[in-house]
Amino acid sequence: MSGVRGPIGAPRTMADGKAGRARVAVLISGRGSNMAALVYAAKQADCPFEIVLVASNNPEAAGLQLAEAEGIPTFAHSHKGMKRADYDRLIDAAIRRAGATHVALAGYMRLLSPEFVEGWQGRMLNIHPSLLPRYKGLDTHQRALDAGDRVAGCSVHVVTAELDDGPVLGQTEVAILDGDTAQTLADRILIAEHQLYGRVLAAFVGGPANPALLLERVRAIALALPVASEKMSHGVPAFAAAGKMFLYFRNNHHGDGMVSICVKTTGREEQEMLIDTDPDLYSWPSYIGPSGWIAMRLDRRDLDWDHVADRILTSWRHAAPRAISALL
Ligand code: GAR
Repeated sequence: MSGVRGPIGAPRTMADGKAGRARVAVLISGRGSNMAALVYAAKQADCPFEIVLVASNNPEAAGLQLAEAEGIPTFAHSHKGMKRADYDRLIDAAIRRAGATHVALAGYMRLLSPEFVEGWQGRMLNIHPSLLPRYKGLDTHQRALDAGDRVAGCSVHVVTAELDDGPVLGQTEVAILDGDTAQTLADRILIAEHQLYGRVLAAFVGGPANPALLLERVRAIALALPVASEKMSHGVPAFAAAGKMFLYFRNNHHGDGMVSICVKTTGREEQEMLIDTDPDLYSWPSYIGPSGWIAMRLDRRDLDWDHVADRILTSWRHAAPRAISALL
């Protein structure tokens, strides 16, 4: 069974949402109580995120009904009988149609394909009922009890290719009581989860941009291009195509207060056009030679990464040997 309900059929833009708020798609497989906690957190006027989609691999997930009642578009499609990568492409398309800028996994009990993880790199969080790095995977509560731990808890982390790995952004410790069972412990940890997730997500999307995560994402885009390599140049990570630079990554370069990249354009006319069209995004790069370089800001909440990838590709084309560039 599959179904799309709510206004997610048409492509959406940032303008559809409340100005400046991150647009979060929440993925669930069942009860969805963490999703509900995020939905209620987003109702506060000062919350820096809104929930634009609740999607599930389980059309019977109880959380879907709650999301619908709250007026949130839902997407439900069973993964059964589908290859992981095919299924993930389907759910990825629904998330992108909803105009999401971030993904929050909330009891989403499916392993994700590398392509899906890659596509949301640095923009996907997960909540896990243990104090990571302890007890990755399932049965976390029983494993904590079996180990004789006195403290358990929950963690929110950035999702990377490894299961329940990736930088931990926040944790809450929960004391283990004499006589606790896996169930009583899980019930108490769940209370802590509900408090933790919204706060960490808000800090993540609303706080200052994390340069390390931005660099990770830029690097993934750049190094996926043929003949691309990375080295340090003038103290910043730089990327070259067959030895010719096409991208510099800068974090507060000479105190300019921005996380940005410098990419190549066709020259003066294009530089001026870009800066005129979006002066918040583009600027003249400081401390870099003439000939077509432009600075592109990355520390914007509503950054369109497809656009960043296009710019990086265009810049790569300026640098790559023609025979190789023609292959793409
Ligand atoms: C939560 O305890 C969450 O931490 C856990 O599943 C439960 C979902 O409950 N997630 C994992 O174990 C992921 N590895 P919910 O559907 O009521 O939010």
